[in-house]
Amino acid sequence: MAKILENHLVADDFCLMKVEADNDAKMGQFYMLRAWDKFPVLSRPISVFDSDGKTVSFLYKVVGQGTEIFQSLQPGADITIDGPHGSGFPDAQGKIALVGGGVGIAPLYLAAKRLKQAHPDSTVDVYLGFSGQPMLVDEYEQAADKVTVNVGGFVTDDIDPTGYDVIMTCGPEIMMRVLYKKCVDAGARAKVYVSMENRMACGIGACLVCTCKTRSGNKRACKDGPVMEGWEVFG
Ligand SMILES: Cc1cc2nc3c(=O)[nH]c(=O)nc-3n(C[C@H](O)[C@H](O)[C@H](O)COP(=O)(O)OP(=O)(O)OC[C@H]3O[C@@H](n4cnc5c(N)ncnc54)[C@H](O)[C@@H]3O)c2cc1C
Ligand code: FES
Repeated sequence: MAKILENHLVADDFCLMKVEADNDAKMGQFYMLRAWDKFPVLSRPISVFDSDGKTVSFLYKVVGQGTEIFQSLQPGADITIDGPHGSGFPDAQGKIALVGGGVGIAPLYLAAKRLKQAHPDSTVDVYLGFSGQPMLVDEYEQAADKVTVNVGGFVTDDIDPTGYDVIMTCGPEIMMRVLYKKCVDAGARAKVYVSMENRMACGIGACLVCTCKTRSGNKRACKDGPVMEGWEVFG
């Protein structure tokens, strides 16, 4: 059980929850969250938005029964957070682009922070795509060198991939596919990492619900991912 320290709206339907929990969460990992006894049956996977070792924060969109329950929780309440799970984004340096769409922006905040902390000489540019009200842009601007915001369009239109050594992306599969193709078509040298947020059940590699086809065979997004190399999934 973890104690909720904060849980508030940051934009239409998007909430930020901070919980007290000793952790060694890495950028791109996720937790299975649960704040109920029997129903809904499954815990819900949510990415690590931020972590300082003593607390973990989650940015979540309210879309259904589970996230509605999360939104109703008050500071001081308890929540079960199981994790961190998954591979996370790899360490990287050089000229780095982080490209997120919708809830896919969540894991990119910690990625920007950690990459800049580890390699202050590296450049970290963040591209954020929103279909509605933009959020937390100031926070991303503090973590990264440059933030480009796209509202209502295609964030993939805003990036010239040719200047980058590494591109990390999270968001709708179609967005990541288009970005990967843009890199290939442009002959970009960048190594591309994609975070596959497939529907999940167990979250620990046992049920195969989250299986995705890759060029190196079927992989479990929860255990072998969620972060995978772009060529494996879209190549
Ligand atoms: C590894 C991973 C990390 C994630 N990180 C975040 C995060 O940081 N913030 C966040 O808001 N969400 C994140 N998600 C998605 C989140 O898990 C779902 O939105 C949540 O489980 C929905 O639960 P619910 O009970 O509120 O909605 P449900 O009633 O279960 O579903 C409501 C609607 O959301 C859709 N939905 C549910 N899960 C997904 C999914 N994985 N992908 C696309 N559509 C889905 C359903 O099809 C349905 O239309 C992540 C998912 C994965 C697999
Ligand atoms: S969610 Fe069960 S194997 Fe991935």
